[in-house]
Amino acid sequence: MTLETHKPKIPVYERWFGTWQISVNRRGFSADDLRQAYDDQAPMWTGKLMKLGFLEAYRKVMAEFTEGDDLVGGTPFRVLDCGVGTGALSAAFAHEVAQPFDLSAVDISPSMLSEARRNLSDLNLRFDGQIADMHSLPFETDSFDRVICAHTVEHLGSPKAAISEMCRVLRPGGKLLLVVTRKSALGAYIHLKWRTQRLDPEVVKTWLEQCGLKDLEELPVGTGAWTRLWSTAIAGRKNEAASIALQDNSAAPFRRTA
Ligand SMILES: C[S@@+](CC[C@H](N)C(=O)[O-])C[C@H]1O[C@@H](n2cnc3c(N)ncnc32)[C@H](O)[C@@H]1O
Repeated sequence: MTLETHKPKIPVYERWFGTWQISVNRRGFSADDLRQAYDDQAPMWTGKLMKLGFLEAYRKVMAEFTEGDDLVGGTPFRVLDCGVGTGALSAAFAHEVAQPFDLSAVDISPSMLSEARRNLSDLNLRFDGQIADMHSLPFETDSFDRVICAHTVEHLGSPKAAISEMCRVLRPGGKLLLVVTRKSALGAYIHLKWRTQRLDPEVVKTWLEQCGLKDLEELPVGTGAWTRLWSTAIAGRKNEAASIALQDNSAAPFRRTA
């Protein structure tokens, strides 16, 4: 019995040059770069939001988010703003509610947080700001009545993990509002400038559902074409018997294919 050996036929160019796989990866900002960038932006941020129409747009979106709200006008409650920045979204929320509430806020930028503390100091709320990373929120499960977040998850290495965290700390029956940059020509500019992720609202909704959110709806961000083209807002309520199915707290590398 003879044992046949099989010699693979390697093309001449591969024998000479080997086999290559070339890929191009786009690197996002590291957390330190992002913190530094937002520390630098902090003194100008509110002015920028005003010029771009977002102060008004946040007011409009919050008016819809709180419309017919069972909390507004009721007992004291707890709100969390993730990536609070200079506090514009929380200020818009405070404008819609009559009674004082406890506002917890997280951000990785100390300067943004100081601006938020200053901007929110005259409003009817008790402010507790913390330097923290949204990938892992320093709060108990089911502890907030409302969780809000604008233009932040697209910055993160793992938006899914951050969304999962926001849903975790939201109490069953509580409501969440998430504003994200749209996939549009304008969004593409933001994506390039700030190296953000391009999030598809349908995918974001699927993640939210997997986290136990229901009654999801898209709310228009403001009334102007500009802010509506820029952003989309998704609101939802946590199921009474929600279990967090989406767990992706792996330290995902902030790296994506161009
Ligand atoms: C585009 S700004 C939005 C600020 C504010 N929500 C607003 O709408 O004006 C993004 C904010 O997210 C913060 N941020 C970025 N990465 C973060 C992280 N991993 N955890 C918490 N905050 C983060 C930044 O420091 C910045 O204040």
